[in-house]
This record gives sequence, structure tokens and C-alpha cells, in this order.
Amino acid sequence: MPRVLLLGGTTEASRLAQALAAVGVDAVFSYAGRTDAPLTQPLPTRVGGFGGVAGLRDYLQREAITHVVDATHPFAAQMSRHAVAACAEQGLPLLALERPAWQAHPGDRWQQVPDLAAAVAALPATPARVFLAIGRQHVQAFLDDTRHWYLLRLVDPGLQLPPERGAVVLDRGPFTLANDLALLAQHGITHVVAKNAGGQGAQAKLDAARQRGCPVILIDRPPIPARPVVCSVPEVLRWLDCTHGDDPVHAARAERGV
Ligand SMILES: NC(=O)c1ccc[n+]([C@@H]2O[C@H](COP(=O)([O-])OP(=O)(O)OC[C@H]3O[C@@H](n4cnc5c(N)ncnc54)[C@H](OP(=O)(O)O)[C@@H]3O)[C@@H](O)[C@H]2O)c1
Repeated sequence: MPRVLLLGGTTEASRLAQALAAVGVDAVFSYAGRTDAPLTQPLPTRVGGFGGVAGLRDYLQREAITHVVDATHPFAAQMSRHAVAACAEQGLPLLALERPAWQAHPGDRWQQVPDLAAAVAALPATPARVFLAIGRQHVQAFLDDTRHWYLLRLVDPGLQLPPERGAVVLDRGPFTLANDLALLAQHGITHVVAKNAGGQGAQAKLDAARQRGCPVILIDRPPIPARPVVCSVPEVLRWLDCTHGDDPVHAARAERGV
């Protein structure tokens, strides 16, 4: 039987945790510990960094992990790089569960940029009302540009902006088109800045921007060393060889994560 380390922090990781629990796979779920109240998982859960590549390598050895699934956010590049390095050192199989990147649709007004610095530089010279949909960690570089007004959507309270500089809304995805259309309208948003995270849960802002003809500055994913990648929970189960292919009821439950 495998013993899996599941690197989490995404909707996909939570879905995979449900599926692994449903088929009774021995697995540990790992959170970085960025949010105050992370979702409870149906697997034994650890929280916090491992201490770099060496710390992760020690953890894998100590916990007798046989397989690592990296289901972190596509922008959690450091964790993903560490997983590649530590698994290579330990000779352990590693699989990434990753959402495909978003692709532009007719009507989209996207400017794709390579990184955060380029996104800051891509904002207009004249004052704009910017929906900064990039989480909390990297907002400061934008806030330093005092020309613009910023709307932040965050999971945890704590960061506040004076009304003349912006507003903070507290919410946790998945988000809906109706909600994001209302948000853009309510705050008179002229530009959206987002990471190309992919997936369904955060796509509504792009659909809303398209409907409103609003330009989007979309940050490309950071590079991660080559590793096997799949896009769905059933593919991970097949990789772990625990799909119970001869038991359709079990397999269906695992796919639904129940
Ligand atoms: N970046 C985003 O836009 C974003 C969006 C939504 C959710 N998330 C989630 O938030 C978490 C942190 O993202 P990040 O961009 O700060 O990551 P990161 O820059 O790649 O990682 C920084 C450090 O945080 C620790 N870490 C990250 N993910 C971890 C995990 N799942 N379990 C244990 N330690 C972890 C590692 O510390 P050590 O070096 O000490 O091991 C890592 O070196 C990830 O789990 C990610 O899935 C990120």
C-alpha cells in the first residue's frame, strides 16, 4: 500500500483528499499555513513549511512516504521546486495535479505578462480602479503605486486600506459570475489583475471582465522543473494504482470524493 504526501492548498487538493479517504489510502495532507482557518480535510493533516528541500527530504524519510502528489497552486512554485528536488534525492515518485491554464476567449481584453513586476508596470499611467485578484502576499508592489485605487479580495481579515486608496472584501472561492459582475460594477472597476491560476473556482472574474469589456492583466505561471502532470483526481488514483477498477461502485465513489 502506498503512503502518500499530498501537498495542498487548492480546491483540487481537497477533492483528491476526499477521494483518497474514500478508497482508504494512507495519506497525509499538508498545508503551508497561510490562512487562519484552513478547510478541514478527511485525512491526517500537518501545517507549516518543511524547512526547505533538506527538511522535506527528512520528512519524507521519517514518515516513510512512498508517493508525493503536488496539488499546490500553480503559483506556489517554490514548494513545487522543492518537491521535485526532494523526490529526486529520495528516489520517490512525484505527480503534480494541476489545472490547465486559462485560455483567452473572443471578447477578452487580456494583456499577458511574465511576472508581478511586469503586471505593476502594465497598469495605465492615468488613475485606474483596479481589482487586484492576486491574494494577499504580493499586493504591496501595487499599493506602492499610489496613482490607482485597489479592490482586494482576501480570505482572512487584517489588511485594511483607507477609502481613498481602496477597499477589501473578505470572501473565499468558488466565486460566481453574478457575484463578480456585481463586484466590478459596485466598485467601478476599470482593470483586473489576476494570476493565470486556471480552474473553475476563480474564473468568474475573467468572465465578468469580458462581459464588461474590462482589460485584464494576466500574470503567466512561474516556471517549474519538468515533472509528470495530470489534471484530474481519477488520473491520480490510477497513478497510485488504487482505483479498484474491478469495483465500479467503489471507483465511482472515489471519483466523486465520497
Ligand atoms: N501562490 C498563490 O497564488 C496561491 C493561491 C492559492 C493557494 N495557494 C496555496 O498557498 C500555499 C502557499 O503558497 P505560496 O505561493 O506561498 O507557496 P510557495 O511560495 O511555493 O512556498 C513557500 C514555502 O511555503 C511552504 N509551503 C508551501 N506550500 C506548502 C504546503 N502545501 N505544505 C507545506 N509547506 C508549504 C514551503 O516552506 P518550506 O520551504 O519551509 O518547506 C515553501 O518553500 C500553497 O499550499 C498553495 O497551494 C497559493
